[in-house]
Amino acid sequence: MGNTKSWSTFFPPTHDLFVAVHSGAGAMASLPPKLSPFSLVDDRKALIFSVSILLASLLISGLEVGSGEDGGDELFREILRDEAVSRINQLGKISDADGYLERTFLSPGSIRATDLIMSWMQDAGLKTWVDQMGNLHGRTNAINATAETLLIGSHLDTVVDAGKYDGSLGIVCAISALKVLKVKGKLEKLYRPVEVIAFSDEEGVRFQSTFLGSAAIAGILPPTTLQISDKSGITVQDVLRENSFDATDESLVWVKYEPRSVWGYVEVHIEQGPVLETLGYPLGVVKGIAGQTRLKVEVSGAQGHAGTVPMLMRQDPMAAAAELVVTVESLCKYPDKFLAYDEHCGFFGKESFAGLVCTVGEISCWPSASNVIPGQVNFTVDIRAIDDEARELVVSEFSNQVYRKCEERMVNCTIEHKHNAEAAHCDSGLSLQLKHATSSALGKMLGDIHSDVPILMSGAGHDAMAMSHLTKVGMLFVRCRGGISHSPEESVLDDDVWAAGLALLHFFDQHVNLLHF
Ligand code: GLV
Ligand code: MN
Ligand code: MN
Repeated sequence: MGNTKSWSTFFPPTHDLFVAVHSGAGAMASLPPKLSPFSLVDDRKALIFSVSILLASLLISGLEVGSGEDGGDELFREILRDEAVSRINQLGKISDADGYLERTFLSPGSIRATDLIMSWMQDAGLKTWVDQMGNLHGRTNAINATAETLLIGSHLDTVVDAGKYDGSLGIVCAISALKVLKVKGKLEKLYRPVEVIAFSDEEGVRFQSTFLGSAAIAGILPPTTLQISDKSGITVQDVLRENSFDATDESLVWVKYEPRSVWGYVEVHIEQGPVLETLGYPLGVVKGIAGQTRLKVEVSGAQGHAGTVPMLMRQDPMAAAAELVVTVESLCKYPDKFLAYDEHCGFFGKESFAGLVCTVGEISCWPSASNVIPGQVNFTVDIRAIDDEARELVVSEFSNQVYRKCEERMVNCTIEHKHNAEAAHCDSGLSLQLKHATSSALGKMLGDIHSDVPILMSGAGHDAMAMSHLTKVGMLFVRCRGGISHSPEESVLDDDVWAAGLALLHFFDQHVNLLHF
């Protein structure tokens, strides 16, 4: 089923150079010293060099986007709006399911999406390759190919019955902004390499693990990842091998990036909430991302006949699961009723539970027949909060209540921790740069001064969480209709897609597009 034959290589054309910059700890260690970017100059020279580059960039700023030197439309509407929107629509039609959007890790739809995005990357003048975790990369040639790389991206997988913007928007806007640089003849003049990454798995739909793609690049993939299995017992390793990847512990290490080779990571993403729409603002800068825990709860009881087993003699896992679902809802709705906190000591004050949300999104039972008391019920729990300690406290309180209630009901319960991600904080410098880029892009589009760009927290998880273990991260949110996401109702105005692309262009221009001097 894999379509990897059309991917000419799993390595970029400038492989030697790439290995020197990017191939992670193992490869880095085996490099001959002359290839290491850090052996080219000593630290002092590197510092002087960086300061000169920064000064040069300040001197030439203002000569780039919007200077009118292209003599035409400074807003690049055809590329940043019309073409970007058409590409998002095309990706929205690539699905593994009939009638709704679904692309999971390395599924046939994901492989087709990878091929299409690869062709767009090449159209933007990027060198492309697919790594051993199925992530697609597109990289610029820069004057100084060993300078720290600016990574920018989002994910190409989706949830089940997804909207078309979640993930795709960030990939498409990044490629479009780089295409504008190409059209302006600036791509080859970038001082710093820029690399777009379309991550193979962020949603974790199939394996419940999330961030398979970005965690591999950040080097935080758990060692047991290859053995994680889906509902039918197929493992991550099986899926990788079906698609011609090596799928060994060693091959996953090749995917990891060397932190010293990376300058930062930026992600554009649909807001997935209602704040920007309420404020009447198309774009916002993200301050931080809530941490999250995903649990799988298995409740087993005594399977039996629905007509013959008296109510008081039942060990019904469905009724137990129902009670547990309501328990987690109450715990997260009214945490102060269940959890000890002390306003005066400031520990677990009400603000600790800011953004606390809990969801049971998946439930199944066996044998699932109307005249059978089930033998087993499984369900998932997703718990998120800005404060990691508060989230851990909720997880622990929920676990205690599960075991207590299951004992009372004489059913067996087990809780498996499927995923755990700490809250991530966006870099303040990078956020400020994104804010300036947004102000100037909106200023150009709308003709007013827009210095009051909203600053938001994210309750949704993003690849930036995994990437924050590798490098500093910054995110830009794009307004969506009604705050709706993870739904086919997801909707973003075409002009907001345009604004996001233009903001990225200003961001590149402000900090990356340093002309050779
Ligand atoms: C990803 O979209 C998540 O927040 O679950
Ligand atoms: Mn999502
Ligand atoms: Mn997403």
